[in-house]
Amino acid sequence: MGKEKWSVETNAVQGGWEPKNGEPRVLPIFQSTTYRYDTAEAVAKLFDLQAPGHMYSRLSNPTCEAFEKKMALLEGGVGALATSAGQTAATISIMNIASAGDHFVAVGALYGGTVALFTNTFKKMGVEVSLVDADLPLEKLRTYFRKNTKAIFAETIANPALDILDFDKFSSLAKEMGVPLIVDNTFATPYLCQPLKHGADIVMHSTTKYVDGHATSVGGIIVDGGKFDWKNGNFPEFTEPDESYHGVVYTRDFGDAAYIVKARVQWIRDTGAIMSPMNAFLSNLGLETLHVRMDRHCENAQKLAEFLEAHPKVSWVNYPGLKSHKHHEMGKKYLKGFSGVLTFGVKGGASAGETVMNSLELAAIVVHVADVRTCVLHPASMTHRQLTEEELKLAGVTPDLIRVSVGIENIDDIIADFDQALSRA
Ligand SMILES: Cc1ncc(COP(=O)(O)O)c(C=O)c1O
Repeated sequence: MGKEKWSVETNAVQGGWEPKNGEPRVLPIFQSTTYRYDTAEAVAKLFDLQAPGHMYSRLSNPTCEAFEKKMALLEGGVGALATSAGQTAATISIMNIASAGDHFVAVGALYGGTVALFTNTFKKMGVEVSLVDADLPLEKLRTYFRKNTKAIFAETIANPALDILDFDKFSSLAKEMGVPLIVDNTFATPYLCQPLKHGADIVMHSTTKYVDGHATSVGGIIVDGGKFDWKNGNFPEFTEPDESYHGVVYTRDFGDAAYIVKARVQWIRDTGAIMSPMNAFLSNLGLETLHVRMDRHCENAQKLAEFLEAHPKVSWVNYPGLKSHKHHEMGKKYLKGFSGVLTFGVKGGASAGETVMNSLELAAIVVHVADVRTCVLHPASMTHRQLTEEELKLAGVTPDLIRVSVGIENIDDIIADFDQALSRA
């Protein structure tokens, strides 16, 4: 049975790195910037993209490659590109298909850093975004599209709104508009959801989160589904010769992998925003326990959400695993589990919430989410601080919202910690 047929669990452990006879069983860290070749001609072929192989670690590296292969297997894509951060993955996922003068549509319930990237930095580069409310009916959503619209971007489970993406609705909209659906699958991970199976075209992650899972390495990844038709007339950069590579035509020369090859040989070549071999090693190590960790994250988050929902000092709880969540039923359709992040508000508002956060002992206040240790954060004053009021509303961030990333510690200890902290509010 080949690895393409293996389950997510088996590929999480064994996919990607394929040691030959006598080679290390564990993925090594190839801490080398350079690669030796016998002839000048062999190197020239690499430069012309006529032969596969590594030439310089600003473009590719064997440790990164093994991690990329594993992520492509897990998501069911044709290829992947590991980047220096999740923000880089978001940047390249759009900029690989949009130029100055172009536009794209993004669901507004997004990580705050992504909103800032799309609305401020992209604007300076001449690429405009329309942030939309995902709950709008299709006929309203269609009105945001223009002739120069190049993509739809959304998160599977939004950070921190925890809205679940309606894949059927957004993938059919993307198809109708002739643009790819790009999905940030950070909170779900390929263990809980594989967006490509639900009509997405490109998947990206902040691997800093559950993929690494231990809060050791900042990183990102883009996975190419390989099915989008770049020859539909909307993407001339894919079908016309790239003069920076002696006339390479990405769709002609790289077929299904046109998008991911172009992202590497243009964006990674020109910016150097690649993942380091060390971080690829650690991220790969994290993946080896992805399925085991995610089961525990989901179980603990469900139990903490139920505890908080029943607590007299808690005014509201938002967790897709609760029946009270607006997307609970839809979530069951697309997700194997509801992941490890929940949000809640304390009676008495933001200041009472602050007291609870400051009183926690096991759960720490950290600017992170999705690692093995339970942590909390106040998005309105932290990750989403730069957003306007309108953007905060679309992102689902209220002033009293506390985000909890439920770790894999013993759930009784986690609940006892929140119980004692709430008693001080
Ligand atoms: C859903 C999501 N996407 C992207 C990012 C950005 O990733 P990074 O911090 O690795 O750049 C984050 C960071 O929190 C995130 O939560």
